[in-house]
Amino acid sequence: MSRPNGYVDPEFLRVAGELFGYIKQRSYTFMQLQAGCQVLDLGCGPGTDTIPLAALVGRHGQVIGVDYDADMVTKAQQRALEAGIAEHVKHQQADAGLLPFADNFFDASRSERLFQHLFNPDQALAEMIRVTKSGGWIVVVDTDWGSLSVDSNEVDIERRLAQFMAGSFLHNGYSGRKLHRLFKQQGLADIALEVFPIAIRSYILAREGTRADEVEQAALDAGVVSADELYRWHQDLEEADRNGCYFCSLNLMLFAGRKP
Ligand SMILES: C[S@@+](CC[C@H](N)C(=O)[O-])C[C@H]1O[C@@H](n2cnc3c(N)ncnc32)[C@H](O)[C@@H]1O
Repeated sequence: MSRPNGYVDPEFLRVAGELFGYIKQRSYTFMQLQAGCQVLDLGCGPGTDTIPLAALVGRHGQVIGVDYDADMVTKAQQRALEAGIAEHVKHQQADAGLLPFADNFFDASRSERLFQHLFNPDQALAEMIRVTKSGGWIVVVDTDWGSLSVDSNEVDIERRLAQFMAGSFLHNGYSGRKLHRLFKQQGLADIALEVFPIAIRSYILAREGTRADEVEQAALDAGVVSADELYRWHQDLEEADRNGCYFCSLNLMLFAGRKP
């Protein structure tokens, strides 16, 4: 089955969840949750955040995870069942641009690393605002793929691949840096932000985390790099890896704002 660009598999999200654990915790803090709150996690994946969020809102609260991928929703629901919390943690399939909830339904909403996949992030944020109560916090975490940098002797190839990933491979690859404008334009109040640098010294982890196989193949197909250049690129990185010198970095941004 062909998968859209927004697709990532649950195992990838588990590894990413460990890498981004601190950022996730900060996003929960910004939501200012209390026992009994009704919470939305948009683009919830396999329930990486809905289950910890459930602990913060308690048995009288409710967490709803939304994802457009049916497999993610099934996996998330299974996890909630296994954790014995399926009563107050639900997952459902829907598109971020058209949420099946009434206006002012949630006390707080979050979304993590979803906006980078969206053609229309404005619409997704507008929907998050619509379904959140006045005064509630809306928290969005996303990647600025324009900040991806890999230490390599092949600087020109490295730049072309990074630019291709941010500007073409993903629908909204510069998402992190655009969140401030988006939050301002949609009238959110009390905007707060944090920037998180991620540094990776494992070549294997970095390749998986940046979906390097897929990006390189797509760049090759699009004529952004040649097979010869990709060969040189791999040789260079593999040598760095053998010498224990591999390094790449990337910034994630967290924006929080209150619905007026
Ligand atoms: C990078 S994953 C992040 C998952 C989760 N937030 C986490 O931190 O582990 C992005 C998720 O967004 C979902 N997604 C992509 N486009 C979507 C859309 N238009 N509406 C709803 N979910 C979408 C994908 O299926 C995937 O589960």
